[in-house]
Amino acid sequence: MASQISRIFLLLLVMTVSLVVFILSQESLLKSWTVFSGKHELRWENVFFDINLWGQEEKTAVAETPIPLLYRGNFTKLPQWDFDDVYNQDAPPRPTTCAHSLRNSQDENFKKAFLPNIRLFLHKDNINMSEWNRLSHFNNPFGFMDYKYDDVMASVKLIPKPKEPLLLPKPGGDGCVHCAVVGTAGILNGSKVGAEIDAHDYVFRMNGAVTKGYEEDVGNRTSVYVHTAHSITASPYFFGKYGYKSAPHDEGIKYVLIPEGMRDFQWLEGLLKGQEVSGGQFNKKWPRDYYSGQYNESRFYVLHQDFLRYVRNRFLKSPNLNKKFWPIVRPTNGAFTLFLALHTCDTVDAYGFMTDDYMKYSNYYVQKYIKTKVIFYANHDYNLEKNTWKDLHNRKIIKLYQRTEPESGTEKPK
Ligand SMILES: *[C@@H]1O[C@H](CO)[C@@H](O)[C@H](O)[C@H]1NC(C)=O
Ligand SMILES: *[C@@H]1O[C@H](CO)[C@@H](O)[C@H](O)[C@H]1NC(C)=O
Ligand SMILES: *[C@@H]1O[C@H](CO)[C@@H](O)[C@H](O)[C@H]1NC(C)=O
Ligand SMILES: *[C@@H]1O[C@H](CO)[C@@H](O)[C@H](O)[C@H]1NC(C)=O
Ligand SMILES: *[C@@H]1O[C@H](CO)[C@@H](O)[C@H](O)[C@H]1NC(C)=O
Repeated sequence: MASQISRIFLLLLVMTVSLVVFILSQESLLKSWTVFSGKHELRWENVFFDINLWGQEEKTAVAETPIPLLYRGNFTKLPQWDFDDVYNQDAPPRPTTCAHSLRNSQDENFKKAFLPNIRLFLHKDNINMSEWNRLSHFNNPFGFMDYKYDDVMASVKLIPKPKEPLLLPKPGGDGCVHCAVVGTAGILNGSKVGAEIDAHDYVFRMNGAVTKGYEEDVGNRTSVYVHTAHSITASPYFFGKYGYKSAPHDEGIKYVLIPEGMRDFQWLEGLLKGQEVSGGQFNKKWPRDYYSGQYNESRFYVLHQDFLRYVRNRFLKSPNLNKKFWPIVRPTNGAFTLFLALHTCDTVDAYGFMTDDYMKYSNYYVQKYIKTKVIFYANHDYNLEKNTWKDLHNRKIIKLYQRTEPESGTEKPK
């Protein structure tokens, strides 16, 4: 009997203790939750307070720092990221008033690949830490892999935001922007298409764009000149004997830089500040001297890495990107120029680009008196580009000047 009583007592005791422990635990849980959330709120207040002290800094930018450097040498082929084919886009530059604009092409393949509003230009207001970190996954010229934040940003933070679109329809025209893009290929020698080229609203040129003495074949106007720091400094040496004196410098010309590598950012810093370059390959050079007095911040544009990567990924993805020398493989300056025209013009006629019968012509149109062979450098996939131009022509996206066609030359734009 006594043992039964003590057993009941023990049971009651255990139940009571459990209940007390349970209540206590709940209470402490509740207490700790209140304390925790109170602290939490306090922390957020601190954060906002800090931000207010910092002025108008963005909330998310405060904590961010550059990701650790990624090195080209650590990859045996082009690395693939899940955000590789995602690009920044901008509002359309203008309403399309042109019925037969290439933007309205019904070609399925082209429609699938073409991003009419892809971001074209890099400037100080569209770069931030998350952009830096995203673009650090891509090698140059497609991004900042291998580069240090401070080295590059010193000049990127100087690039002014373009005040106007690269091109506008000409007043009194048909509402379309008609462009000619003139490459440097030998096919233009003896072509007599100079007047036809000059009849376009805008004429794009790149690299060793000598016109003086070649006007009958290549025209004499340049509205947009696309270059790298290398091409604008090396052209006088390569093309000097063919009459090249300086980059085109028509009144009101627009200059577009392809930021190809570190040396272009060093070039940019000197150019934008109106100083000499400090450090690197162009140390002590005065960039503004190379623009013959036509350099003007309002007419200077820097291509965006997303645009360059998009051109490679969607239109010119060379199998060489899977080879060991992948980091140097990229489209030619001529290819980037042609694609820039495709994204800023309504109609594009391409002259002096590589064609199937390239062996019949010299490497460059300036090589009039000596028949040279077309040189294939490992960093460009010339056959892929040649076939791409022909394909775009066959799909009626561009008109490619080819001499083997029964009716040589392209029609004048209306
Ligand atoms: C990656 O490249 C860097 C710089 O060339 C080198 O120091 C590092 O050892 C490489 N890392 C690996 C894992 O190979
Ligand atoms: C950083 O820039 C990108 C691209 O312009 C933009 O989409 C993003 O909102 C910006 N981020 C911040 C935190 O400002
Ligand atoms: C360039 O064109 C001229 C005129 O058609 C021609 O006489 C000359 O042989 C051409 N030069 C080359 C290298 O093909
Ligand atoms: C180009 O040639 C045309 C006709 O020969 C001439 O009127 C014009 O002034 C020239 N333009 C330039 C920029 O040299
Ligand atoms: C630069 O170009 C803009 C736009 O074409 C023009 O309004 C401005 O006067 C030019 N500035 C100089 C210094 O030439």
